[in-house]
Amino acid sequence: MNTPLAPTDEHLDRATRAIRAGKLVGLPTETVYGVAANALDPGAVARLYAAKDRPRFNPLIVHIAARWADLDSLHTRGIIDLDALEPAGRAAAERLIVRWPGPLTLVLPRGPAVPELTTAGLDTVAVRCPDHPAAQALLGRLDVPLAAPSANRSGRISPTTAQAALDELGDRLELVLDGGPCVVGLESTVVHVHASGQVTLLRPGSLSRQTLESLLEAPVHTANHEHAPRSPGMTDRHYAPDALFLALPARCADLDAAQMSVLTPRLERARVIGVLCWTAEHAAATPRCLPGLQVHALALTHTGDPTEAARRLFGTLRALDALGADLLLAEPCPPGTEDHGLAHALRDRLRRATRDL
Ligand code: TXA
Ligand code: MG
Repeated sequence: MNTPLAPTDEHLDRATRAIRAGKLVGLPTETVYGVAANALDPGAVARLYAAKDRPRFNPLIVHIAARWADLDSLHTRGIIDLDALEPAGRAAAERLIVRWPGPLTLVLPRGPAVPELTTAGLDTVAVRCPDHPAAQALLGRLDVPLAAPSANRSGRISPTTAQAALDELGDRLELVLDGGPCVVGLESTVVHVHASGQVTLLRPGSLSRQTLESLLEAPVHTANHEHAPRSPGMTDRHYAPDALFLALPARCADLDAAQMSVLTPRLERARVIGVLCWTAEHAAATPRCLPGLQVHALALTHTGDPTEAARRLFGTLRALDALGADLLLAEPCPPGTEDHGLAHALRDRLRRATRDL
């Protein structure tokens, strides 16, 4: 398979047949492209782990059709186990799922229909209802949910276009549906809803902590090391280009002498250097700050808007990777973006893609 397919009726029928036959389909969502398999078929799920080279201890998100997006339907279909939630746990989940379809994944008690392999042996299951017409069109034709991790090889950059999904996993997929570039660009927010009603943020995403707290009218807890083994995507080095990628403490123009003296030996060893800049203006100024070197500076945004930065992050990381640079540098997010929910998620992804200078 070497071209993505428009989500026409004919191609959606092909994708439906492929899923029913236990095969893998590249799927657009509003966050990133996923690689989808029948979440209730252990054989299909095993092929999915293998296609991504994903360790089997890292559980998958189960994607559901909009018509399943209420707690009683999910319980009746054996996806979640409502009996394992106390009334306060159920109430918290009810308050959060008003944001479905959307970039919000809830970790809830696992129901009997979900194979252990899908949840990596955990007694919880991550559930998400994606907000993308092509994803919903496919889910609407199926009578099963889809396990769909991001369509990249394990540890690599999540794809935000059909072509990027194809470049990552093309030879391992039956087909890739092309739903255009992802509008959000970062993976969903993942929260664990505990039986008691306590809610813990496992992975920041476009739905911010502030939004979650206002839906819950209660604080959202921060995940600590106790959660790490249960949500490996939380702590791993991740989303990483191939070359050494260093996080700068300041934009190139503002590095002080001490910071420059740490950076200089790295620069001297590099032939081609790629720099991730926050704005086009920074990118234009960057080569002058690193004179005598072959520097390619790429801008995340035209305007400085964090929403645009989030949408373009993974595509820009791919473009940096494609430069064939032997050293990559990332400017920090600018001051003033600390309270922006998407900038928080973006910082999280950048922290995991880079190493400190
Ligand atoms: O936006 C998204 O969520 C995308 C699109 C394709 O929907 N999917 C995605 O899947 O990002 P993946 O597999 O790349 O990330 C799933 C994350 C991982 O960090 C995993 O550890 C966590 O969700 N997770 C899944 N099931 C879990 C569970 N039962 N308990 C805790 N964490 C879980
Ligand atoms: Mg992923």
